[in-house]
Amino acid sequence: MSQAANPTGFIGKTLAKGMARGHKVFYENTAKVLDLKPDDRFLEIGFGAGLFIKRYASNVSRIAGIDISEDMVELASSINKDLIKSGKVEFKQGDVASLPWDDNEFSVVVVIETFFFLPEPLKSLKEIFRVLAPGGRLVIEMAFNKDDGLDHTKHIKKYEMRLYSAEEMKQLLTEAGFSEVEIHYFKAVKMPFKGYIFPRGMILKAVNRMS
Ligand SMILES: C[S@@+](CC[C@H](N)C(=O)[O-])C[C@H]1O[C@@H](n2cnc3c(N)ncnc32)[C@H](O)[C@@H]1O
Repeated sequence: MSQAANPTGFIGKTLAKGMARGHKVFYENTAKVLDLKPDDRFLEIGFGAGLFIKRYASNVSRIAGIDISEDMVELASSINKDLIKSGKVEFKQGDVASLPWDDNEFSVVVVIETFFFLPEPLKSLKEIFRVLAPGGRLVIEMAFNKDDGLDHTKHIKKYEMRLYSAEEMKQLLTEAGFSEVEIHYFKAVKMPFKGYIFPRGMILKAVNRMS
């Protein structure tokens, strides 16, 4: 597995901090679509360095996160040490395909630059649906996607990714039980350290309407 999909050790931690800096624009755009409220019960899948939480989610009523990498739990905990001290945040090591929470626990779930690494996308979406309360929303951000007109052959091989079009994501989300699927695209982004350009980053929003 690539370091981007499962950052481990010193190299993984350094990479995760670099990614978090490079993902600033992705975070900004995701936060706009998420529109967090103080009474939200928030869960992040694949939080990496935990900087999205620090910058955008620290004021909600409950904060939880899960990451496959134990080293990311350690890094995000040190970056969010004040939140950890306050007892408001709960970071766990684990796989989104088997979430360690009860049904209906969260009002919002976010997945940033992570969905394309998941080996079990449908099972993972069904798990997210299960832990979301009725009316709860899911937001998935993917700078890499099939709708951006770029040739991603190199990235797919290097990072072992599965890319999706908006239509494919709509089908998966609907099959997992979600409705009211919205597709948002965001403007081109130039990454300072590698010069990648993302002409059509994608953000999906979907709602658990099961009562
Ligand atoms: C490219 S990083 C993105 C990190 C962070 N969201 C950000 O944007 O800076 C992908 C993250 O997803 C985590 N991850 C990958 N597969 C996962 C899985 N099956 N369940 C939970 N986390 C996973 C990785 O450990 C890593 O921290």
